[in-house]
Amino acid sequence: MTKRILSGMQPTSHLHLGNYLGALKNWVGLQDEGECLYMVADLHAITMPYDQDTLKQATREIAAAYIAAGVDPDKASLFVQSSVAEHSQLMWLLATMSQMGKLERMTQFKDKAGKDAERAGLGLFSYPVLMAADVLLYQATDVPVGDDQKQHLELARDIASTFNHRYDTEFFTLPEPMIKGGATRVMSLRDGTQKMSKSAESDMSRINLTDDADLIVKKFKKAKTDPHPVPDSIDNMNERPEAKNLITIYAALADRSAEQVIAEFGGKGFGDFKKALAELSIATLAPITERMNALLANPAEIDAILEKGNARAREIAGPVLKDAMKIMGFWQK
Ligand code: TYM
Repeated sequence: MTKRILSGMQPTSHLHLGNYLGALKNWVGLQDEGECLYMVADLHAITMPYDQDTLKQATREIAAAYIAAGVDPDKASLFVQSSVAEHSQLMWLLATMSQMGKLERMTQFKDKAGKDAERAGLGLFSYPVLMAADVLLYQATDVPVGDDQKQHLELARDIASTFNHRYDTEFFTLPEPMIKGGATRVMSLRDGTQKMSKSAESDMSRINLTDDADLIVKKFKKAKTDPHPVPDSIDNMNERPEAKNLITIYAALADRSAEQVIAEFGGKGFGDFKKALAELSIATLAPITERMNALLANPAEIDAILEKGNARAREIAGPVLKDAMKIMGFWQK
């Protein structure tokens, strides 16, 4: 069976190093392994308060980031979730086979809903059902994501199995999460126990794809560490979350193992290591940022790429939805 690879990112704000190392970098390497569909998950982005004036621009910016990072629109289809109506339609069908108890256990929901879960919106609560629809609608075999999406994908597999079991069919493909590389969970630069995230209050906690060289240097310089030198063994590193995070980031950017990074920097002061880390980040991100800005100067070109991707996405999604509805017993021509 040829692979069908699908993934997406929310256009909530600028992408950060975690998005790049945990997902985007892997997407680029998968383009010759099967049909790739990379989506801008804008329907997901409205589950938290958002700015309606910037949603459209953020959608283009995310698409530009995909391309700037190396996704080739001639190989992969880039599309906008809200432009393919079938996502919302399939979500409703799948909602009828999704258990509240399982949704309540989703850690992302618990984090985002905060203390007052009673007031959280139904959209935020049912977000993983929409994500299941995103994946199942394309019969995706593989879903390259960071570690934080694993639980959502397990639920998507669970929902697909429920459908197949309930209707005595093998219709839906069970998607495999593809969580690869050394940096599947990049942590905050201010707290090594929290993941790097777009929604964290302090911008100093993350490196954005749009940060310039000076800011990247500053953020790494101020990154939290402990008073000891760079760890000189994996065991020592594993006990020190902030040090571990910086070593993990370095290793992922350099395509090296943590052992190799420790062999070079172990026992030395953090000052020099942070300088080297900033240089490496700039060398990786500056060309991406530059390409992204060049693409954004020509929004019509991005729109044309997205329109083409939307057409391909609809071509796959339409018949899958129709067949799912037939299996469920709906009247269909
Ligand atoms: P989102 O927009 O939060 O993140 C996009 C991708 O980046 C990964 N990621 C990270 N990886 C490593 N370290 C981090 N600190 C880090 N933060 C984020 C995420 O795992 C993700 O791969 N629900 C998804 C979007 C989505 C989706 C889908 C993904 C909607 N439908 C269908 C796959 C398939 C999300 O909010 O990702």
